[in-house]
Amino acid sequence: MLMLPANCKVLESPEDVAGQACRIVIAEAEAAIHERRMFRIVLAGGRTPQRTYQMLAGMVQDWSAWEIFWSDERCLPSDHAGRNSRMAQDAWLSQVAIPAGQIHPIPAELGATLAAAEYAKLVLDRQPFDLLLLGMGEDGHTASLFSTSGDPVAPVIAVHGAPKPPGERVSLNFETLRACRKQLVLITGAEKSPALFAWQHGASLPIAHAVRNDACLLVDSEAGRSTNFAVPGHY
Ligand code: 6PG
Repeated sequence: MLMLPANCKVLESPEDVAGQACRIVIAEAEAAIHERRMFRIVLAGGRTPQRTYQMLAGMVQDWSAWEIFWSDERCLPSDHAGRNSRMAQDAWLSQVAIPAGQIHPIPAELGATLAAAEYAKLVLDRQPFDLLLLGMGEDGHTASLFSTSGDPVAPVIAVHGAPKPPGERVSLNFETLRACRKQLVLITGAEKSPALFAWQHGASLPIAHAVRNDACLLVDSEAGRSTNFAVPGHY
């Protein structure tokens, strides 16, 4: 089982993590646009990436070359405050000129099964994604992958009975997450420290199955408290 990625950075605060994450996203975008004239990014849900998204809203970028996807979505109405897409729209996407046709929320309001089937068509058409952002739950889940024993083949899966409400979700599957060109994992908060420690010591957590060893992992001092990170490499 993969241990923690070799490229880990422990930064003092969540604000420092967000600032470094913003710099990495911009660097990846500029490289992708230079090489391929498009930058396809998969956004993480939850609260952790919100500050990074707010920082991105203040950046001057060739937004016309950006294309936005999500790693997972909660089966809630499309404008519900609990949607991962709504968080990113409010924090960032509503404030920059990314063409609407290049912003692809997961249509989780259709229900998990139909939404997964619909999004799988888009994923297969647009892969490989240039950058994937991921968070991690206190139990070591990532995206909406709470177990490592689900369907190993489908690129996007319907999730039923998720332990983190709402129970109905849609998620990119492990292989889809691993197929992204670059992975950037953001973990902050003392409540994440036990799962991070378990991951570091070989626990077979969903995050461990989703994240490649060449990923960049940014952790704040609270989450990294119980781990013995050496000074990592540089991204
Ligand atoms: C979700 C997210 C989920 C999230 C982790 C961490 O729908 O909740 O996709 O995977 O990234 O649970 O959540 P926080 O960033 O809020 O701690």
